[in-house]
Amino acid sequence: MASERLLSPLTLGQLELPNRVVMAPLTRSRAGQPGDVPTPLNVEYYRQRASAGLIISEGSQITPQGQGYSLTPGIYSEAQVAGWRAVTEAVHAAGGRIFMQLWHVGRISHHLLQPEAGAPVAPSAIRAESQSFVISAEGATLVPCDTPRALGSDELPQLVADYRAAAERAQAAGFDGVEIHAANGYLLHQFLATGSNQRDDAYGGSLERRARLLLEVVDAVSAVWGAGRVGVRLSPFGPFNDISDSEAQPMAFYLAEALAARQIAYLHINEQVALSDELRHGVRQRFGGAIIVAGSYDAPRAEAILASGLADAVAFGRPYIANPDLVARLAAEAPWNLPDESTFYGGGAQGYTDYPTMA
Ligand code: PHB
Repeated sequence: MASERLLSPLTLGQLELPNRVVMAPLTRSRAGQPGDVPTPLNVEYYRQRASAGLIISEGSQITPQGQGYSLTPGIYSEAQVAGWRAVTEAVHAAGGRIFMQLWHVGRISHHLLQPEAGAPVAPSAIRAESQSFVISAEGATLVPCDTPRALGSDELPQLVADYRAAAERAQAAGFDGVEIHAANGYLLHQFLATGSNQRDDAYGGSLERRARLLLEVVDAVSAVWGAGRVGVRLSPFGPFNDISDSEAQPMAFYLAEALAARQIAYLHINEQVALSDELRHGVRQRFGGAIIVAGSYDAPRAEAILASGLADAVAFGRPYIANPDLVARLAAEAPWNLPDESTFYGGGAQGYTDYPTMA
């Protein structure tokens, strides 16, 4: 069988997965309004994809301040918990497993998305050369990110508490675990990277200090869930959202060791750029849990990286947008539908829940 390894079971922390095909976290910008609440349409979308070994939800802002794009769902209100509960119940009824991705965008935002139209927050007051998406009276527009204000040292305990509260809500909503988004240039990645963190307090300066906020968040979330139901997503060397980092490899190795010591369920590496063998092997040697990789994998490349032993599971993004039955297609060696980029963000059922399964 061509996808023998992808279709074999995997123990991931406290979970047993029937296969190693992961649905990647995907922003689709279809949360119900007002309130950024998951809807029955979102329930249907996730239910259709329940044959994945693991679904990781789209990034969900832990607080209103953590939002960087209009129409993304949150996990800070009771209405959102109820909306997400319908999602997890449908996925479970269809035999699946689903983690929630906890998201705070930091400086990748705009005052129109922020409480009281304030400045977005970040480790340092350095603007990202990137864009946010805002729906206002003038319609839907891409806007340049605002210059953020630097979080005060005294605000960081509250931020960690916000992650903890979101983790508790995710539990109330019936998820199987949570993934902490520390990749792709959002808040926790902004703390990790040298270009965006120029703090001189206990959360900046040395590599250990830049990693401190993420590790405090991991500990707070693990206290709620148990580490065996917590994953962390990183994107070492990824430039997305104007990240620059002169210590990307040492940071990846330091985090691999620190997260191994905490015995989290998995490390999820988003490969925005091709990673060196040195990085892949170094992370593998240091981290004892499962490694999920993502980055435009097709079936042959996915089989190859599993065969190499450098990853335990592969996350698929675009293929999962267009193929709700991706696992069955892999088993049948059937062709994949192609995704329609024009319907990635916003809108309704079209390009969301209307992709066909195999005949
Ligand atoms: C996006 O909306 O393009 C997006 C959102 C979250 C990510 C990466 C990209 O982590």
